[in-house]
Amino acid sequence: MNNRNFRRWISKTKKERGSSIILALDYTIANPHELLLRSKKTIENLSPYICGVKFNRHLVLPLGLYSGVKELLGLTRKLGLPSIMDCKINDIGATNRTIAHHYYSAGFDSVTANPFIGWEDGLNQVFKISNDLNKGVILLVYMSHKGALEGYAQRVKHPNTNKEYFQYQIFAEKALKWNADGVIVGATYPQKIFEINKILNGKIPIYSPGIGVQGGNIDLVAKGMSDYFIIGRSILNAKDQIHYVQNLNEIINRSSKD
Ligand code: XMP
Repeated sequence: MNNRNFRRWISKTKKERGSSIILALDYTIANPHELLLRSKKTIENLSPYICGVKFNRHLVLPLGLYSGVKELLGLTRKLGLPSIMDCKINDIGATNRTIAHHYYSAGFDSVTANPFIGWEDGLNQVFKISNDLNKGVILLVYMSHKGALEGYAQRVKHPNTNKEYFQYQIFAEKALKWNADGVIVGATYPQKIFEINKILNGKIPIYSPGIGVQGGNIDLVAKGMSDYFIIGRSILNAKDQIHYVQNLNEIINRSSKD
């Protein structure tokens, strides 16, 4: 274990609320005032039934990091929920450090990052600042969209042994070596979740986006494979969001016991 608090916190929230759903708060409402109000209301309404909130550029760009988003992060924290900034950090070390610094200063508890950029003068800076500030780092290992296989499923030669592996296998090994707080594997690829689970051997939790609109099947993925489910549009567009999330929780909890 590392000295970062995020991983323990989200696991505790999952147990206490009986939910492994992380809400992807991706509203696309044009009016910023309405966007902020609707986002607040949704966090308040759903907080008893979810274990975390994930933000993306959907809110950071129109609302501003240190204004509207900071306000939403204050509310999220007040309601006892950890937050994730899905920024997929992907640059040189000094820039990565600045990106992470600003998200953490605004109140985020964790960030997502792309292992493709490597450690030295790359992600080492993200892990360093996250350790110093007691925050979490979640790495992309296999994304959920259709084109994911073009990059994550490429066969590559391991730089040290010259043996051939799939890119996602090397990324999962890196997550272990770097002591990440989580890995992201799309719910749209249950077989990959199964394989990556074998590499991680329960040492790092798996976060799966892609349920619902992207086609991932919750029942299939919940059978003891993924630890957390990142779900956005299907919840946000539901007629009765609370009922919809409660129903998802029931399906996940039932399936993960099978
Ligand atoms: P939906 O509406 O499809 O929202 O339920 C999913 C959310 O998760 C993000 N997303 C990903 N983030 N790796 C990530 O780090 C992925 O493979 C991935 N797939 C989806 C998406 O941007 C949205 O916020």
